[in-house]
Amino acid sequence: MIIKPQASQLGRFATPYYYYNEELLQQTIDSLKQEMSKDSRYVMHYAIKANANPVVLKHIQQAGFGIDCVSGGEIALACQAGFDPKLIVFAGVGKADWEIETGLKYGIGCFNVESVPELEVINQLAKQAHTTANICLRINPNVGAHTHANIVTGLSDNKFGIDMAHMMNVIAMTQKMEHTQLIGLHFHIGSQIVEMDDFIALCNRINELQDGLDHQGIKLKIINVGGGLGIDYDNPDIHPLPDFKSFFAVYRQNLQLRDGQELHFELGRAIVAQCGSLITRVLYVKDNTNKKFVIIDGSMTELIRPALYGAHHKIKNLSSSKAAETYDVVGPVCESSDVFATDISLPQTQRGDIIAILSAGAYGETMASGYNQRPLPKSYTDNDIMAE
Ligand SMILES: Cc1ncc(COP(=O)(O)O)c(C=O)c1O
Repeated sequence: MIIKPQASQLGRFATPYYYYNEELLQQTIDSLKQEMSKDSRYVMHYAIKANANPVVLKHIQQAGFGIDCVSGGEIALACQAGFDPKLIVFAGVGKADWEIETGLKYGIGCFNVESVPELEVINQLAKQAHTTANICLRINPNVGAHTHANIVTGLSDNKFGIDMAHMMNVIAMTQKMEHTQLIGLHFHIGSQIVEMDDFIALCNRINELQDGLDHQGIKLKIINVGGGLGIDYDNPDIHPLPDFKSFFAVYRQNLQLRDGQELHFELGRAIVAQCGSLITRVLYVKDNTNKKFVIIDGSMTELIRPALYGAHHKIKNLSSSKAAETYDVVGPVCESSDVFATDISLPQTQRGDIIAILSAGAYGETMASGYNQRPLPKSYTDNDIMAE
């Protein structure tokens, strides 16, 4: 069950807030580990940008995963939360000097380098710090993904990564640098990908690139394929767990790792999306001529995905079992995009009902803002709610 407490229990806390189902999170991690255990060369760095809630991080850390960071703040948070810096990787097209210095100070495992000027700055800052930085080159594989345009990252028009055509030259540059050590290649083609063919296309591209490296006698220890596995936003009750089986089978069957190579992953969404829900309360039901609006107290400031990407989340009225009616579910923020769903069927709804927005554990709480001077959302787990 995605949400374990009853509406009456959830309603004892001030809304809106994030509810996390720790049991589901742990089941997800267990199922992921089960699939990963089929190959001892696999290493997971959880993409902390998806969700950095301390409860979530506790489970991730106990699983023995590393962390994928995209900022100095995330590196500091991961280290303070007790993650092994050697298992931290750091991506991002615009790493500021202080962020690189933060990574060097903590001795992170790898910088995923996205451009030549960045490579030069890392080499320079590592020299100043009397150290050597491990680096993977993030290569833009020019592989598309069947997902929302705003979350495709692996096409040559996207800002991410180093052009494939430049890869050999950049590798040659790294070989001359004294304070960087090239240990691998990094890729990430996008997010919320459910068509396994997209990952197969990535594997094929990496195989081609590795053939080129073989010809030059270049051996690399790490291939990092990033994250991107999607979840079922439409039917979270039916598919609470992502399809880890198919995902890892794709890599087992299609990627030709070289002797001694490790395969690293950076899943975010797939691990945490289904365990989180945004719990809100109905403020008003407005009956206009054309539409009925359910106006809830949760908004785009707690969960921006629908406004930002047109993302769909399943919505449940946990308080009512009356006959269904058609509603738009909207937030109170002064933006026309503050809409969670249009023309959906919900049981007849009234002021005070508890409305849950499901599958909100990834890119929900971490993307919350204080727009309209709204407070940042709190979060609770079953332990908190059942104890009340
Ligand atoms: C470099 C990198 N790795 C991993 C991820 C995690 O992606 P996902 O949450 O889709 O698994 C992202 C997300 O944008 C990313 O940019």
